[in-house]
Amino acid sequence: MPATPEVQTGLEDVVAATTRICFIDGKQGRLIYEGYDIRDLAARSTFEEVAHLLWYGRLPTSAQLAELKARFAELRTLPSALAERIDTLPISANPMDILRTAVSSLALFEPEETRPGPSSIGGAQRLVAVLPTILGQFHRRRVRRPAPEPRPELSQAAYLLYCLLDREPTELESRAMDVALVLHADHELNASTFSARVTASTLSDLYSAVTSAIGTLKGPLHGGANERVMELLDEIGSVDRAEEVVKAKLARHERIMGFGHRVYKVEDPRATILREWSRKVGESRGNLRYYELLRRVEEVVHREKGLYPNVDLYSGSVYSLIGIPHDLFTPVFAASRVLGWTAHVLEEYRDLRLIRPVAKYVGALDLPYVPIGERH
Ligand code: ACO
Repeated sequence: MPATPEVQTGLEDVVAATTRICFIDGKQGRLIYEGYDIRDLAARSTFEEVAHLLWYGRLPTSAQLAELKARFAELRTLPSALAERIDTLPISANPMDILRTAVSSLALFEPEETRPGPSSIGGAQRLVAVLPTILGQFHRRRVRRPAPEPRPELSQAAYLLYCLLDREPTELESRAMDVALVLHADHELNASTFSARVTASTLSDLYSAVTSAIGTLKGPLHGGANERVMELLDEIGSVDRAEEVVKAKLARHERIMGFGHRVYKVEDPRATILREWSRKVGESRGNLRYYELLRRVEEVVHREKGLYPNVDLYSGSVYSLIGIPHDLFTPVFAASRVLGWTAHVLEEYRDLRLIRPVAKYVGALDLPYVPIGERH
């Protein structure tokens, strides 16, 4: 058998694409979108500005920003047949399954936007605008509240909160969510973006690529970790028990969610920013319990394993304090990352080459064929 090169399990360190969208310096702990440091974007920009940046490669002028905001507002309404369909799905379903089904179904109503190529920018805007509506349509039925209205005056962050909470978010809550959306919008070739690019590389459509990505994000090693962080905090209960609970888990070789990263060898810069937001939102509520617990967990995990926090360590505490149910954390991640997925799909269409790696075969060769009647 001809020799195949050694396998990089998990494709670790394999360079699989060129991109202008996002750069991660894992050694310095830097994250860059289209040339701009995430710390500047999180402090000074909005999700809408970042959307313009990732799709068009430059920050918008005031007029371009106003146009994009108006476009999002216009695109928030679901086709009534799809809204009715979502209302027939089981309320016990995992919201990520609802999101995946709804995006896949939406494609049936929007054949224009599904045509692969540059025109997919319309589909990209549509998906970013409508994901909060899908989540609101589903979640509000679970809590017996009416479906959301389009609310054109709200930013995407405020609209997402309004859809999920069925109330007007405060300015601090909207800003916290806006920062979270900016921080989660893209992360180079993470697993879900890679799956979106693989799907797009076959010249399949944008909605199919985003459907693949939602399925990939659902896994606890990728999008589901912040929900598990909150379970850990519930299990720990009080700061004085953190050390004992974390050490017992590590002794059983369990992973502590919200720590470690394939690319960052130092602290994830998104965790640094969200730590501050966890404190800020906690202070505004007069409740620093999560923040203090997480600080203690951080200390123990770093001392015992040398691991640093990733983006998922503090995000769940921010969402919980705002009142977002835990099973909507990964869907909130999707409502932001859909921006990165669509930007990467558009880039993939521009630089198209079918993504098709090879595998190292480790099975048998030349087995004699045994007729069915002679098998046992
Ligand atoms: N807790 C305990 N040990 C860990 C953790 C962790 N969170 N992360 C890595 N390790 C240990 C592993 O057990 C392994 O130790 P060993 O060599 O003694 O067996 C070593 O560190 C290397 O781990 P790998 O799984 O090979 O590292 P990889 O780069 O494949 O994993 C990953 C990265 C999946 C994120 C991992 O750190 C992890 O499982 N973290 C917890 C889940 C999590 O927080 N996911 C969110 C990531 S960010 C995002 O997707 C948005």
